Amino acid sequence: MTQPFLGFWETLKKPIIGMAPMDGVTDFACRSITAKHGRPSVMMTEFTTATGLFYAPEEILRDFEYSEIERPIVAQIYGNIPEDFYRATHVVCELGFDGVDINMGCPSKAVTQKLCGGRLITAPDLALEIIRATRRGIDDWASGQTLTDIKTPAKVIRVIEKMNAGRTFTRKKIPYSVKTRIGYEDVVIEKWVETLLTEKPAVITVHGRTLKQMYRGLASWEAIAAAVKVAQGSGTLILGNGDIHSLEEAHQKIEMSGVDGVLIGRGSIGNPWIFSGKMPTQEDRFKIALEHASYYDNGQENCPGNSPEIRKRDFKSIRKHLIGYLSHFSEAAALRHRALQALTFEELKQVLDLTKFGGHTE
Ligand SMILES: Cc1cc2nc3c(=O)[nH]c(=O)nc-3n(C[C@H](O)[C@H](O)[C@H](O)COP(=O)(O)O)c2cc1C
Repeated sequence: MTQPFLGFWETLKKPIIGMAPMDGVTDFACRSITAKHGRPSVMMTEFTTATGLFYAPEEILRDFEYSEIERPIVAQIYGNIPEDFYRATHVVCELGFDGVDINMGCPSKAVTQKLCGGRLITAPDLALEIIRATRRGIDDWASGQTLTDIKTPAKVIRVIEKMNAGRTFTRKKIPYSVKTRIGYEDVVIEKWVETLLTEKPAVITVHGRTLKQMYRGLASWEAIAAAVKVAQGSGTLILGNGDIHSLEEAHQKIEMSGVDGVLIGRGSIGNPWIFSGKMPTQEDRFKIALEHASYYDNGQENCPGNSPEIRKRDFKSIRKHLIGYLSHFSEAAALRHRALQALTFEELKQVLDLTKFGGHTE
């Protein structure tokens, strides 16, 4: 029996402790900060439409902006048209990502009503066709097929060239993976994992909730453990996901479920230290919150990435991260309230006054 191609996943130290993709959260700034101050095993982009990127590349490909510090970095795509996955995978490869992940878990109505995301759990034949198209895309690109060969619109190629400025890459095969949930309405994880395994993904990440649950209730780590049993001997790695709030808890869940690792989502927002286990001081919190915010202060020179005009984000993007950074110390609530009003980097710097720690404000 042929084994799945694991690519970079094989080189990761076990257990794998990565950051889960979160739309509107895990953008280039968040990932750069997390890589620098937390060092997770792996990170993923926000989910990105496999179809839309060919129509609005400037806007959509912004989600694929990354810098070298983030490696290994996996691009996550979603959609319902296999041919679009085939073409989008060429873009992912061309941008030098270490892997591609297919979203089969998103519960949002806007996504599921089009048979995308987690809705694919109810359409296994289409889901498998999508995986096969993705694999073909990887293989054909690795064999030398270009974006022009597959008739990629010139405007898409122009954006990619800008994003790739200064980067060198070699054509090589990258691994494909799937992130999913334990079922649509009912828990069907065993049958579903068995189905996915027929196309030999490198990794299946299982969020221990059904789609119907959205984010309610608790993630079922028993269902995740059942997925591990089904995958035993297949060579595919299983990552568990859901409700991890500390590194210690991650290790407990890994132990009880037998997974190869975990992805941490909400617990890592404004908390890159969750991956290192370090207890941040209040000064660490202020400093890193400001460093993170500076990445949204358009035009800052310290900003990672290649193409500032593509990377550009609204300064308000820092708000959801501030809620995480500014917690777990006395007076946090009052400070948070003030920090969330800041409309510019300079305003935020006045609220998060580093001089009170006797250091420099930089
Ligand atoms: C704001 C937000 C955005 C999310 N966006 C994505 C996404 O783009 N792709 C994806 O696979 N999952 C997405 N998720 C789901 C998370 O990756 C993860 O599966 C879920 O939050 C459970 O893990 P946690 O309890 O550690 O947060 C998102 C979750 C949140 C809260």
